[in-house]
Amino acid sequence: SPAMARQERWFRDSVAAMDATPSRRRRTPGRPAVDDRFANTPDSDPALSETRRWALAAVAARPGEPRTPLASTADIDAVVATARDAAPGWAGRTPCARAAILREGARQMEARRGDLVTAMAAEGGKTIAQSDPEVSEAIDFARFYADAAEDLGPGHAMTDGARFEPAAVTLVTPPWNFPVAIPLGGVLAALASGSCVIIKPAQAVPRCTEIGVEALWAAGVPREVLHVVRTDEHGVGQHLVAHPGVDAVVLTGAVETAELFASWRTGRSSGPRVHAETSGKNALVITPAADIDLAVVDLVASAFGHAGQKCSAASLGILVGSVGRSRRFRRQLVDAVRSLRVGWPEDPGATMGPVIEPPEGKLLRALTTLDGEERWLVEPHQLDGSGRLWSPGLKEGVAPGSFFHHTEVFGPVLGLMHASTLDEAITWQNATRFGLTGGLHSLDPDDIRTWTSRVEVGNAYINRGTTGAMVRRQPFGGWKDSSVGPGAKAGGPNYVASLGGWAPDGLPR
Ligand code: ALA
Repeated sequence: SPAMARQERWFRDSVAAMDATPSRRRRTPGRPAVDDRFANTPDSDPALSETRRWALAAVAARPGEPRTPLASTADIDAVVATARDAAPGWAGRTPCARAAILREGARQMEARRGDLVTAMAAEGGKTIAQSDPEVSEAIDFARFYADAAEDLGPGHAMTDGARFEPAAVTLVTPPWNFPVAIPLGGVLAALASGSCVIIKPAQAVPRCTEIGVEALWAAGVPREVLHVVRTDEHGVGQHLVAHPGVDAVVLTGAVETAELFASWRTGRSSGPRVHAETSGKNALVITPAADIDLAVVDLVASAFGHAGQKCSAASLGILVGSVGRSRRFRRQLVDAVRSLRVGWPEDPGATMGPVIEPPEGKLLRALTTLDGEERWLVEPHQLDGSGRLWSPGLKEGVAPGSFFHHTEVFGPVLGLMHASTLDEAITWQNATRFGLTGGLHSLDPDDIRTWTSRVEVGNAYINRGTTGAMVRRQPFGGWKDSSVGPGAKAGGPNYVASLGGWAPDGLPR
């Protein structure tokens, strides 16, 4: 799609800009050129691409305060009632009419790309290189779900006498880490299905979501069909999630939150209580048959993109056999991690931004504590008084069954495990309660066959990193405790249909 093409162009530009820049460090003879992708780019670099200049100008302008006030329970009752009243009208439009509005939504979001990037930087601390492709992903969702809406229409999915019935009102509750693509993806899928939508932005990033919703209103989604509601996370939020006028809840967040939401919705007789994409503890396995240069780049990008704050992040690198003993691999990996430049999004050379809030709990433990035989290859440090800026951490010697093996920490720490065989590596990769993403780096077809047949993840990536699923090409969603509900994958063929139900044609449901 044009948005994907733009994303790829952006990546090429960024890498080209960095490659054109001499590293500040003296080049070590024989170091593979691939390391230069992580070389610091001086602020005054004349090779900065136009795209980057434009994005920086966008970050310099602040997005401002959220426009939606915090809702009371009475406000929520009123919004749900308005949405239910609007439901027959929206469901009654033809799928093609809804699809046309979604495609115009894609154009409106493209027009507001700068505002969206700005808001992601200011509210979420997301670097431009991470936030710009996220806008592209939201645009891709709009076009992809527009196609899916048309597939629900007469002559397509109704061949065996079943009729698609959308939920009247869908609630979308996204996380803070992808403050544009995940909320808008959920909204667009539900709108495509013919449902009215209430979107409750994550508390830290409301303006990101509001700007996306404004773009969809401008595209022709009626205001009574699409509502933004901000709440606290306690009583009022529960009132909304448990509301009898809400038919479907689309959640992306911690598995504990999904379980809590499902318990609040106990007693719902029709349809799933929640559709949730939840947590992950993801590993990338590297065998001796890997292209090591590529494996290092993918491991570092997957572990430290958005400071590791992705459900898809590679938190573990499982090194098979001689890889774990290879001095070349170790040197490249340590160099690459050390050369990540940490900074606020306004810093054009920053390759890793802040964490969302000063770490505590599991993340603080992962950043500051070693268990058993673990040792730091690169020790993380707090870099300023904000408490949010941390240099990346790389530890080795993570033991099977340990805290770090099993726990999603959601921050800039990568742990290495040393496996004797590929079988052992896969056993360790599968040993957590989660099954979201996983990767294998190997050029050996036997390794690939073995791994593919045994790995227990929703998104299994071969010779690629574990983050950045592309709409349609890599539908996104997990197994095991990484998913609650029907388990259809976002950006995949069944997602829109999974949000509604099927009734025998011609009969009321
Ligand atoms: N869809 C996001 C990714 O693939 C979470 O990284």
